[in-house]
Amino acid sequence: MRIVIVGPGALGCLFASLLFPVQQKASDGVWLLDHNQQRSELLNRQGIVYEIDGVQRQTMIPVLTLPSPLLTTGRPVDVILFCVKSTVLADCLQSCRHLLSPQTLVVFLQNGIGHLDMQERMQLDGSPVFASSSEGATLLAPGCVCHAGRGRSIFGFLDAQIKQPGLQLQLEKLLEALQMAGLEVALSTEIRTYLWAKLFINAGINPLTALYNRTNGQLLTSCAARGRMKNIIREAEAVARAGGIPIRIDPVQAALSVCKRTATNISSMLQDRRQQRLSEIDAINGVIVREGKRLGIATPANEEIVWQIKEMEGKYEQNVARITVGREAHEQHQGHDEN
Ligand code: PAF
Repeated sequence: MRIVIVGPGALGCLFASLLFPVQQKASDGVWLLDHNQQRSELLNRQGIVYEIDGVQRQTMIPVLTLPSPLLTTGRPVDVILFCVKSTVLADCLQSCRHLLSPQTLVVFLQNGIGHLDMQERMQLDGSPVFASSSEGATLLAPGCVCHAGRGRSIFGFLDAQIKQPGLQLQLEKLLEALQMAGLEVALSTEIRTYLWAKLFINAGINPLTALYNRTNGQLLTSCAARGRMKNIIREAEAVARAGGIPIRIDPVQAALSVCKRTATNISSMLQDRRQQRLSEIDAINGVIVREGKRLGIATPANEEIVWQIKEMEGKYEQNVARITVGREAHEQHQGHDEN
């Protein structure tokens, strides 16, 4: 299989380092794509470093910047894994458009559910596969990933592709390769349910850690934060139920137990705040607000947190336009409440 991994972040480097050694046939290949030319040169010189239990292994995986003759000529790509944040996904899809054929599996590993129809909306070739991963990977430096906690990655098609045997076989082949690489993976016909289960946790934990500048565990010591977390998740749960998503475990309890298990974690949204980057708030709580509107479910706790995070992000200089849109939406909502 010819596999392209987009984004040399923690998960991208993890998948690339583990997949590369097991893809050794002449017809195989694993490439990492990076939009940043300078960084890709560095990664090609130093290799990708994978660390587990204090032991490091270096792998010379080819890191490419598009357009690259290696990928634009010859056979199409069989699998492309998008290991990038939801904030840059549309741009990445656009720049990889020419790598996709109708047979390409396009694997999405983003948080949230805002990307479920993105490929269709952008009219791109390829068959979308969605994945939810709980692998604990941390980027220590460019191209250096620490596999801090072993998790599980679940993959699945949404409805339309399930009955196409060729695609199913291709996905099984990818999962076999990931298994041979040492990862715990599973195929599910209920991927939407898994994505929502992760969304509840991200929606309840991430924005509050960012807003209050606290670790996951520190959220539990504040009554106010715990109360808000519960309200945010209960609203998300009501939206999911209205949309016909089965809920098998109590999402509030699940989020509280993630906070305990990952007490010292700096959530991804808190990392974004500390580095003054745009967060995934739109793909996480924003999408709950949007789905709530579509299904007639009120989501005031989510609207409030979206607004507060956007207000915070608006203070980073480059985001003035974004904050204006957020404020208008909030003011409209306040108007509704007062009427
Ligand atoms: O996004 C994250 O940071 C994590 O998925 C989690 C566990 C929700 C918070 O650290």
